[in-house]
Amino acid sequence: MKIAVLKDAGGDEARVAATPETVGGYVKSGHQVNVVRGAGASAHFSDDDYKAAGASLVASNSAAAKSADLVMSVSGADKKLLSVMKKGSGITGLLNPTDNPDYAAAAAKAGVTAYALEYVPRISRAQSMDVLSSQSNLSGYRAMVEAGTIYGRAFPMMMTAAGTVAPAKVFVMGAGVAGLQAIATARRLGAVTTATDVRPAAKEQVGSLGAKFIAVENEEFKEAETAGGYAKQMSAEYQKLQAELTAAHIAKQDIVITTALIPGRPAPRLIDKRMVAAMRAGSVIVDMAVERGGNVEGAKPGQIVETKNGVKIVGLLNWPSRMASDASNMFARNLRNLLPLMTAEDGSYAPDWDDEIIQACALTRDGKVVHERLK
Ligand code: NAI
Repeated sequence: MKIAVLKDAGGDEARVAATPETVGGYVKSGHQVNVVRGAGASAHFSDDDYKAAGASLVASNSAAAKSADLVMSVSGADKKLLSVMKKGSGITGLLNPTDNPDYAAAAAKAGVTAYALEYVPRISRAQSMDVLSSQSNLSGYRAMVEAGTIYGRAFPMMMTAAGTVAPAKVFVMGAGVAGLQAIATARRLGAVTTATDVRPAAKEQVGSLGAKFIAVENEEFKEAETAGGYAKQMSAEYQKLQAELTAAHIAKQDIVITTALIPGRPAPRLIDKRMVAAMRAGSVIVDMAVERGGNVEGAKPGQIVETKNGVKIVGLLNWPSRMASDASNMFARNLRNLLPLMTAEDGSYAPDWDDEIIQACALTRDGKVVHERLK
């Protein structure tokens, strides 16, 4: 098949969907790969490296996309590109389907199959294709490192001739993929680390990383995990109990990282203004859910806000793009592992419509929006 690798133009996107490593593998398997000039530059992959891997370089996204059977992108969401693509071809990316339903409609109109990588199901066989996990893991690491840079004090306890430096107190709210990596990073840096979540499974995972788990562990908590492994929306009553439990704890923390999300809904509000006002000057809160409405009152997308009492609320966006090289390597390998499900024995592009992974992430097929969540 003919594969196109786009230069992701969207805003601050520095990642690329295929690296010289994965492109080399595609070429060895007999595929033809067109890479847009400069596609990997922000992630430190040069045009020369792609060329050496066997790719052809092309001038623009539209030039690459128009002859491709499969277009690989990180964010995909440039609707105009769909109209130049071949009928029956496919495009992969983090297409953000719930916020961006027009994209699926435009793909259907163009006769293009759009694969939303965020919908790859969380089953064992798909773990190596799971872009959400690979990118969240890096995000959690990066958010903690960034918090440490903004925080003007040390993480570990230091006993020196000039006196003792107290260790930082770190609290992670939401111990999913990003949260667990944030906890592991805080522990490596030497912070005293605590964490919370609404899913009981998180308790053991937090403990195994050497952090203390704090949560309202009532009947509702025991039922808070969906069959897909995600959190349910908690009741108002639970949220009140959770706020009461965490308010006093947050007041004593130096760094709080929030990652709490509920699929298809706005992020739950976990920290209000009063809790922020109770923290000491110099503390840092990172709201990793800011893109979905935020866990923290006062967080602003793309900004670092300093409150009157000297607390910095970090609302930076697109954490994986801040580690574009590692993030691209993982993203590209996830995509490479998905590709066999779209490839016939003779190497041509042929999605396996009987496969549940393809069914789960394809938004469109034969000119129609077919995904349950969008119908
Ligand atoms: P996510 O990004 O949807 O949410 C982040 C975390 O916030 C979750 O742990 C969630 O329980 C928590 N949360 C939601 N509401 C909250 C609230 N009100 N207070 C505190 N915490 C709250 O979740 P993510 O990181 O994508 O992972 C969800 C689950 O899926 C995890 O159990 C993870 O281990 C599992 N998973 C399974 C995979 C597989 O089997 N292939 C692959 C990746 C993750």
